[in-house]
Amino acid sequence: MRVLRRARPTGSPRVARVVVCLAFVSAWPAAVVTVAAPATDTPQAVVAAVAEPGPGTAGRRAPGLDLLLSRPYLPPDLDQGVFDELWTVWEERARSRAERASPEERRRLAMERYGLTPHPDDPSRSMQYVVDATGAWTMSCLACHQGQVDGRAIPGLPNAGYALETLTEEVRLVKLKQRKAFGHMDMGSLFLPLGTTNGTTNAVMFGVALMRHRAPDLSIVQRPPRFDLVHHDMDAPPWWHYRKRRSLYADGFAAKGHRILMQFLLVKENGPDKFRAWEDDFRAIERWIGSLEPPRWPWAVDTARADRGRGLFLRHCADCHGTYDAADPTRETYPDRIVDIAEVGTDRVRFDALSPRERGELNASWFGHMGEDAATMKDRESPAGYVAPPLDGVWASAPYLHNGSVPTLWHLLHPAARPAVWKRTATGYDRDRVGLEVEAFAAMPAAADGGSLAPAERRRHFDTSKPGKRASGHDFPDVLDEDDKAAVLEYLKTL
Ligand code: HEC
Ligand code: HEC
Repeated sequence: MRVLRRARPTGSPRVARVVVCLAFVSAWPAAVVTVAAPATDTPQAVVAAVAEPGPGTAGRRAPGLDLLLSRPYLPPDLDQGVFDELWTVWEERARSRAERASPEERRRLAMERYGLTPHPDDPSRSMQYVVDATGAWTMSCLACHQGQVDGRAIPGLPNAGYALETLTEEVRLVKLKQRKAFGHMDMGSLFLPLGTTNGTTNAVMFGVALMRHRAPDLSIVQRPPRFDLVHHDMDAPPWWHYRKRRSLYADGFAAKGHRILMQFLLVKENGPDKFRAWEDDFRAIERWIGSLEPPRWPWAVDTARADRGRGLFLRHCADCHGTYDAADPTRETYPDRIVDIAEVGTDRVRFDALSPRERGELNASWFGHMGEDAATMKDRESPAGYVAPPLDGVWASAPYLHNGSVPTLWHLLHPAARPAVWKRTATGYDRDRVGLEVEAFAAMPAAADGGSLAPAERRRHFDTSKPGKRASGHDFPDVLDEDDKAAVLEYLKTL
């Protein structure tokens, strides 16, 4: 199998040379099981916000959320027996600690390690995976799209703690010990990097690789043409932006709609018939995503300072990011502007990783309603740069920028002071700088023996010197002095 390499400027990321066509080959039989919803009544405080039915829902959980929590759309990734033994392959110290712990405490440690949150119906399992009656765990959209701040799960918040690569590696080791069959992620991750830093994933390239194995009507192509992949990690955007956005993704090229949300289900076990059968489910899921409200800053705000910040924001930021009005959201504006890559100056690997052809083909496929949206998307097929996103609930959605390279809003407002390498504390939230509580380093730290860190520990560090991970650019705040920056920071808490 040959994979073409695209000419690339120096410093751009490693281009995949591996046989990606084998990726996502599954050793599992295509198993789509319906779940008997467990009727335990043990919601935890941390997940209450997600699980609670919203106002006007007559006490029922939104159908879209219910589907995400209960219906598996992919083959399973692991089973309860594997999950409960993961600690046996952890590095020393973590392993001894787990060995001494009770089974409940071990599960808590495992959830913390992999960035999972307890399920509202059964806190012994995670919200990010659907678990069926046989104990099979299947990754859901919430794996990347359900996170927490300060121990509280917020609906639609990206999962800034998800350790997909570490989880997959460790699942594979435990399956070897238990002589269990590998699943599609275990195999796929041998060919495709899943994410080099916890909280960010190579999701865009999964999409490109999988799409290459499909015709426009989603029928499976047996021998896909040669193609290349520019691996890079992305931070998922908050789902509560969905209703304001005209189009999707960091460069805004994709048409909105329930079908485009199904891209992540393109494993070979899911033939075109499945996509058609699940359309109604994804209409409900899209309705739920489109109904999400940004979370409100739960702590005190210096209102005089925030008011001053509002004026500065209107003058220096609103042209790109729009205007906000918590009292009357109908008065808000959002320009949905695509800013030229040279002007915004942030990392351009994501921008260069997709060709106009790839963008066009996605919109011309079943996902883009077979080209139905093509006319409205014409101006977005070859975007000039990145979309200036809405900033609703921005206090909660750290880290910042499309690649998640900037840990707090304070650092976003101080481009020269952004850390070269940072590591977040377990689940710490930094209320002063507004974002992730982090430890900063001038360069990647070494292991105690002077060698490089073990992979699981390395992935806890965000290294901005790596391709696709630069934290530079978006220098717009530098027109402000220190006092003004403090005022804008206070105002951003209120959005
Ligand atoms: C492995 C992680 C991962 C999984 C699983 C995942 N996503 Fe995403 N999602 C992302 C990333 C990363 C982006 C940003 C891509 C970009 O901007 O180029 C994204 C973007 C999106 C967006 C666009 C938001 C915007 O404002 O542009 C929506 C909507 C979305 N995902 C829905 C879903 C749904 C529905 C599922 C399940 C069927 C899902 N995602 C599964 C990582 C994931
Ligand atoms: C010329 C347009 C433009 C101006 C002016 C501008 N921004 Fe931005 N901003 C962008 C773009 C484009 C991005 C996305 C960049 C990326 O993800 O690489 C962005 C990203 C951000 C983010 C990160 C959002 C997230 O969820 O990751 C914040 C916060 C932000 N801007 C705040 C501000 C503030 C505050 C000001 C005014 C001082 C400002 N911006 C001025 C275009 C602009």
